[in-house]
Amino acid sequence: MRDPGLVAAPSADAATVRVTFEYVSWATVWLLVGTTIGLIASIKLHWPEFLPYAWLSFGRVRPAHTSLVLLGWASLALVGLSLYVVSRTSRVPLWSPRLARIALWLWNLALLGGLVTLLAGVNRGPQEYREWVWPLAVILAAAVLIDGYVAYRTVAARTLPEVYVSNWYILGGFCYLPILYVTSYLPFYQAGLGNTVVAGYYMHNAMGMWFTQLALGVSYYAIPRLLGRPVYSYALGVLGFWTNLLFYPLIGAHHFIFSPVPWWLQSTAILFSVGMMVPVWAGTGNLLLTFKGGGGAVRRSYALPFLVTGLIGYGLSSTQGTIEAFRTANVYLHFTNFTVGHSHATMYGFITFIAWGAVYGLVPRLTGREPSPLAVGVHFWLALVGVLTYVIAISIAGILQGLAWVAGQSFIVSVIAAEPMWLWRTIGGLLMVGGHVVFAANVWAMRPQRATVPTPPNAVGIPA
Ligand code: HEM
Ligand code: HEM
Repeated sequence: MRDPGLVAAPSADAATVRVTFEYVSWATVWLLVGTTIGLIASIKLHWPEFLPYAWLSFGRVRPAHTSLVLLGWASLALVGLSLYVVSRTSRVPLWSPRLARIALWLWNLALLGGLVTLLAGVNRGPQEYREWVWPLAVILAAAVLIDGYVAYRTVAARTLPEVYVSNWYILGGFCYLPILYVTSYLPFYQAGLGNTVVAGYYMHNAMGMWFTQLALGVSYYAIPRLLGRPVYSYALGVLGFWTNLLFYPLIGAHHFIFSPVPWWLQSTAILFSVGMMVPVWAGTGNLLLTFKGGGGAVRRSYALPFLVTGLIGYGLSSTQGTIEAFRTANVYLHFTNFTVGHSHATMYGFITFIAWGAVYGLVPRLTGREPSPLAVGVHFWLALVGVLTYVIAISIAGILQGLAWVAGQSFIVSVIAAEPMWLWRTIGGLLMVGGHVVFAANVWAMRPQRATVPTPPNAVGIPA
């Protein structure tokens, strides 16, 4: 059955539509490349002879995977959707789609350069999620600054007095990423313990102050828009924004519990990790309560199930993160595969599902073309079953590793215990990548076909 809510409200000007779609399309290309590389990395862990070439060795494909899925897929999809959201909620066309397109090509250039250099073995050493050599980092920074400027100018030109809550999150993300990026590349933070502290700061704030901010910003637009009702509590949305800003920047050291990082800094990070429950549950609760009484809409829509799954993923996997930060749990889980499970529960179960829900919910409204609901359903179930298989298997592997290490057993005992779970991770990964191929076909089915018309008038409180 077709989704009745979706094509009824064609929207923004043609230039905004085109550039939004270009971002989503390129994000999809990097999703396919990045997760295929992730699959290769996964297979190598239980079949080490698979593709025995230097340029496809585990140490090279791992950063190629993480940089493409984080900076290529998740960032480009959320930036494209955010540019559309700032334009719609400000009731003006996007300020300079041309500049946004230039930024897109800078992203693509940096991503291609990153892929080639990492596979060739050219990198900055073990600087997780910032392995690219500095010229590529400069290109990426330029792209982020341009996109941020376009978003800011669009909001500044708004025809409404207030700044809608989505834009707080989106502009917040664009303000914070440059601070984070510059700090993490400062030459005097590249060695010793300072480097470790900055690594934790960079890794977790990239997650919390970039991906989370943009995903929540997009959700605060897409969910009320698709349900046709205002968000449950505007005030809770604003509380979530400020408490996210208060607690997130100080939790980075929870990556280095029991390390030589000062004990007080570790304790502060644990305390603030507990504080993180405020924004997490303010956001999850607020957005889930917006669905109250809307069960029928969720059943009829093919976009809303992705958004509901993403919200549940946000609440549960962040709570898991808080538990992981306690010393009593961390002593068993740190260095183990359990953290990899948490990474995928969050970046996939939360960020990626929100991005898909927003793409399926918003893109047909602006291009006037829908994918086949059956194909969307196939994508949903492949991705959900795939990620559950991945996360459950790899979390079990992590617990087995942790128990073996704490018991003082030899390392090989933990390898033997975890190995069957690595095979299950590959099985989950195959389902996930299969889902991504279906998603790519669905994006193609939603490509723009005609000039769009203005959005019809709207009930008070629902973003345009
Ligand atoms: C309340 C919120 C959260 C808390 C307290 C939390 C806590 C943690 C902790 C303690 C670790 C490190 C575990 C270890 O190495 O021993 C970790 C790792 C990680 N978290 Fe979270 N997490 C939260 C939410 C999130 C969210 C929302 C995302 C993604 C959007 C995320 C992504 C990651 C990633 C990718 C890693 C792995 C980093 C690495 O490469 O080592 N987390 N988290
Ligand atoms: C959009 C989808 C995905 C995202 C955002 C994502 C993200 C990540 C992140 C953040 C890490 C670093 C984890 C850490 O250090 O804690 C990672 C590692 C990894 N991912 Fe993914 N991933 C995705 C899909 C996949 C898929 C489909 C597979 C296939 C099985 C996969 C396999 C791996 C492997 C093997 C590693 C290395 C784990 C290790 O070092 O032990 N990922 N991914």
